[in-house]
Amino acid sequence: MKYSLAFLSVILCLSIASAQAKCTYIEEYCGTSPSGVVVHWKWVNEAEGLIEWTFNNTGSSQASVILNRGATYNGVPLVPPYVFAAAYFPAYLYDGLAQYFYGKPVPLRNYQAEYDLPIGMLDVDGHYWTVFVFTLAPGQVFRMEEGGYIYEGSNIFPYCQNVDDITYEGSAVFTIQYHKNEQCHQFDSTQPCPPENFDVGSAYYSIKKGLVNSTNFWPSAGDNFTMNVCLEEGHGYKESSPSMMMRKANRATLTTDVDRLHMSNINRAVRSLVRPSKVSTGGKRVTRIL
Ligand SMILES: *[C@@H]1O[C@H](CO)[C@@H](O)[C@H](O)[C@H]1NC(C)=O
Ligand SMILES: *[C@@H]1O[C@H](CO)[C@@H](O)[C@H](O)[C@H]1NC(C)=O
Ligand SMILES: *[C@@H]1O[C@H](CO)[C@@H](O)[C@H](O)[C@H]1NC(C)=O
Repeated sequence: MKYSLAFLSVILCLSIASAQAKCTYIEEYCGTSPSGVVVHWKWVNEAEGLIEWTFNNTGSSQASVILNRGATYNGVPLVPPYVFAAAYFPAYLYDGLAQYFYGKPVPLRNYQAEYDLPIGMLDVDGHYWTVFVFTLAPGQVFRMEEGGYIYEGSNIFPYCQNVDDITYEGSAVFTIQYHKNEQCHQFDSTQPCPPENFDVGSAYYSIKKGLVNSTNFWPSAGDNFTMNVCLEEGHGYKESSPSMMMRKANRATLTTDVDRLHMSNINRAVRSLVRPSKVSTGGKRVTRIL
């Protein structure tokens, strides 16, 4: 039997098209910080709910940004936007994904040599929260995988509230209080967790007012981050100094449209699908869910 060349090329195109549909994923735009850090995401493995974030600093200076994102299910919001790392940071601290850093931020690849992603304290309207600090040199591209984009057997999709610049303000010792059950055991019941009350030295950052409300995803509700101002870097002990004021995070409040019980049920479902994910420039395998 003899096929015409045209027929063969149609078959070839169809098979390329279907191979592409299966094997390559389109990058979705997430957001751009005023400094020019562009963030996209794409599926790495839909069946496993695994995505990859790409941060690309298209600006001309080094920039530190946060990623404020939530998730949708069947086109409707499911997880309210919160800053990446606010939920489950105590688990990340002990599973090797994240580490607080003291001092001015440096581009990620330098931290990656130590296989730890930097987390830091972000001052949101006078309250501190723990967030991933993505610092990129001009032209630098950083990729990071995130698992857990599955709910009730279907994919959920990230949606981005914003990618925003944060500014280094100093370093200090903070006392952290968190709920071990919500912020660590529910992430992974087998891993060790930090004590529910611990001190850590960390850089702290500011962000333009109004860009982030709080970290309103339920595992982080109730976290308290208290700066020990006496040990603040670069500030002597001055009784009259406004920086002597103790700044303390209040309990996070869930926005009215989020039902806490509902969120907790979602998290249980999502948790059953925890899978390893990795920082591609580092090589350390990590686990995380939403
Ligand atoms: C990063 O952004 C630059 C400038 O827009 C572009 O040329 C480059 O292809 C981007 N890199 C990636 C990996 O997206
Ligand atoms: C955080 O502080 C509030 C107010 O003092 C307190 O009620 C709450 O229990 C603290 N959270 C933790 C995890 O200790
Ligand atoms: C902050 O909260 C308000 C009201 O709850 C909401 O309309 C707004 O979108 C939120 N902004 C961000 C950046 O989360």
